Amino acid sequence: MHFSPDNFARRMGGLAPSAIREILKVTARPEVISFAGGLPAPELFPLAEVQAAADRVLTTGGGGALQYGPSEGFQPLREWIAGELGRRGIRSPVDDILVTVGSQQVLDLVGKLFLNPGDVILTENPTYLAAIQAFQVFEAKFVGVPTDAEGLIPEALPELIRRHRPKFLYTIPNFQNPTGITLTAGRREALARIAAEHGLLVIEDDPYGRLRYRGVEVPPVRHWDEAGLVLYVSTFSKTIAPGLRLGWVAAPPEVFNRLLVLKQASDLHTSSFDQRVAHAYLTASDVPAHLEKIRRCYGERYGVMDAALRAELPAGYEWTHPEGGMFLWVTGPAGSDSLLLLERAIGQNVAFVPGRDFFPAEGGRNHFRLNFSNSTPERIREGVRRLGAILRG
Ligand SMILES: Cc1ncc(COP(=O)(O)O)c(C=O)c1O
Repeated sequence: MHFSPDNFARRMGGLAPSAIREILKVTARPEVISFAGGLPAPELFPLAEVQAAADRVLTTGGGGALQYGPSEGFQPLREWIAGELGRRGIRSPVDDILVTVGSQQVLDLVGKLFLNPGDVILTENPTYLAAIQAFQVFEAKFVGVPTDAEGLIPEALPELIRRHRPKFLYTIPNFQNPTGITLTAGRREALARIAAEHGLLVIEDDPYGRLRYRGVEVPPVRHWDEAGLVLYVSTFSKTIAPGLRLGWVAAPPEVFNRLLVLKQASDLHTSSFDQRVAHAYLTASDVPAHLEKIRRCYGERYGVMDAALRAELPAGYEWTHPEGGMFLWVTGPAGSDSLLLLERAIGQNVAFVPGRDFFPAEGGRNHFRLNFSNSTPERIREGVRRLGAILRG
């Protein structure tokens, strides 16, 4: 059969494959130094501990590990997550926690729950590429919230709310993807207050909050949310391993119950086995020590990349100085083109993600995102040296 556009749903018209997935195909070659993907350092995955946890689950846990389970998630894991939320400054009943297939699934379920075609959502501009993709499936329109070095500017929201009547604000307050910027405590409090005043739903996506390697921890926006308008989303992808595909959302009952119906319709539940393995790992291991190891490693790699950029990039290039997470964001002179740079960099076996793809609307040509978590210090120095050589011509 030959497929024409009419064979497919109308929503497919506006969708393109993720640029990162396309770039990652190139970067699978071992000789390529890739600053492109958002990949954790695989040498830090707790392989032996996860193996021991899987053994325990299978030898002592009975058939439950391989049986269908509740759509809400494995109850002991939900309880562990409630405790973790407490450590992050959020009070959330266990009943509000839905365990999902990565935090990416939350974005899909949130899109299904709230978005009709043409609905407006507010985001940072630039924002997480796969959030753009997830919400584009529901034919959302994106409106960027003005931002500066301290993150989005809450005072800009009332006017945007009045003009666009957005369904929600999607925000990444910690070590934002792609910029690495962190929203200040004062702005978080202001955001929660303004959201309450205007009845604005906020999707707070926090995959990187535990990866702070310098500075002072800031509580989530949800910490200041007394109106029940902030849905807090997080994941085990960056603290244990992304291959487990385990994330969660904490949502008040009216939202939780609807997300649960959508989750049931989509996949019945998150893997029983993976949830039990994660729980067995989390309760038997020294999690704070593991997090400290990740922070130390990423902090060192950030430092190496920052020093290499200072040594190699020509005048006119600037970059962010994140206090945690996995990315920094380079801004070139007006008129510079990171797509052209990427073509030349691939020729030198170096890859990154050009800025354009992180902007739902226009802009971004003179930016690019660099990941520093997934390369050794030697490869970071060498990769940045090659980028610098190209840019200096
Ligand atoms: C901001 C943000 N949200 C969500 C995700 C998805 O993570 P996962 O589905 O692995 O939990 C990522 C992954 O890089 C991310 O950067």
